[in-house]
Amino acid sequence: MSSLRDDLQEVLLTEAQIQQRIDELAAQLQRDYTDKDLTLVPLLTGSVMFVADLLRRVPGPLRLDFLGVSSYHGETRSSGDIHITKALQLNVCDRDVLVVDDILDTGLTLVRVRDLIATLRPRSLKFCVFLEKEIPHHAGFRADYTGFRIPDKFVVGYGLDYQEQYRNLPCVGVLKPEITSRASLDTPRAG
Ligand code: IMP
Ligand code: MG
Repeated sequence: MSSLRDDLQEVLLTEAQIQQRIDELAAQLQRDYTDKDLTLVPLLTGSVMFVADLLRRVPGPLRLDFLGVSSYHGETRSSGDIHITKALQLNVCDRDVLVVDDILDTGLTLVRVRDLIATLRPRSLKFCVFLEKEIPHHAGFRADYTGFRIPDKFVVGYGLDYQEQYRNLPCVGVLKPEITSRASLDTPRAG
């Protein structure tokens, strides 16, 4: 079997760098959510690696409920036209909700998710993203916790996909141009 790693032009974040940063984020969450009633709400599918590593390092009590969100994408950017593919199962009214996502790019997805969860009347609502792209405007959106700020490049690995591949890479990198220049159509995608 060929290795996905060979398709990368550049590694932006190594597995060791990621794991070290997640230790720090988990310690910060453990401090901030002491005496709170934490419900983690990761967004499918891109956040799976991140949330799995994060939550096993938070020793305090928490609940976990995935929200399925899919957005219509062009080649590599979100349109903000999202729909829910899996609703929350837990009641989050009066709970301290922390949404976990893979990447803050345009911010359109998280603006929609914020509006949606706000209608469920959580006690608090915060956002933790693994990556944040260094672009001037995130649709007016700021995350409360950010793993890494990265340049405005399309990246894959550690949960992030290109056409549903590369999520299982343990590092984050940029694909070789010959891979992304192959044809792709506008299709609905799982985030
Ligand atoms: P946003 O709505 O533009 O902030 O981003 C929505 C979703 O687009 C993210 O949750 C990802 O699933 C996807 N996305 C944005 N940038 C990238 C990237 O560089 N690589 C892979 N997926 C991305
Ligand atoms: Mg996503």
